[in-house]
Amino acid sequence: MRFKRILSQEVRLTVFDLNELSEPLKYLCEKAKNMAFQAYSVYSNFRVGAAVLLEDGQIIGGNNQENVAFPSGLCAERTALFYAHAQFPDKKIKAIAIYSPDAKNLLTPCGACRQVMLEYESIQGDSIQTFIVTNEEVYVMDSVKDWLPFEFSADLRR
Ligand code: THU
Repeated sequence: MRFKRILSQEVRLTVFDLNELSEPLKYLCEKAKNMAFQAYSVYSNFRVGAAVLLEDGQIIGGNNQENVAFPSGLCAERTALFYAHAQFPDKKIKAIAIYSPDAKNLLTPCGACRQVMLEYESIQGDSIQTFIVTNEEVYVMDSVKDWLPFEFSADLRR
């Protein structure tokens, strides 16, 4: 079939050394790490920690919470984000850091978490950075839009 045009969207992860981050961001990454070790992940044995940084510097931690009725569980990212937005609906979210000691490869947020991250980014009108923490490095995504190319966002509606 002959196509008319191609639409494409480039996404970028920028990699830093963990110890090159500013102290507050290093602390955010440490929080994500610590939260992973409190995960309730008895069914998957896959521990994930998340830490959300609010505009006033406050950090909200979360981790995955599983359930014997599998779909009733929740990822670390949404546990932290929902708590943050439930408690502080008027505070902008600057960043979310995630970490798993059980990941063989780079841990990237699932589709549902990406959509939830995008919701908050679009209603606040400022981008949310994602920090994927590994033992020595951190992979930074500057906007949630990069996680969801051709996204369906809250600011799409007329
Ligand atoms: N999980 C997260 O918490 N975050 C992710 O980014 C990927 C997956 C959780 C869901 C489930 O409790 C476990 O990891 C295995 O999929």
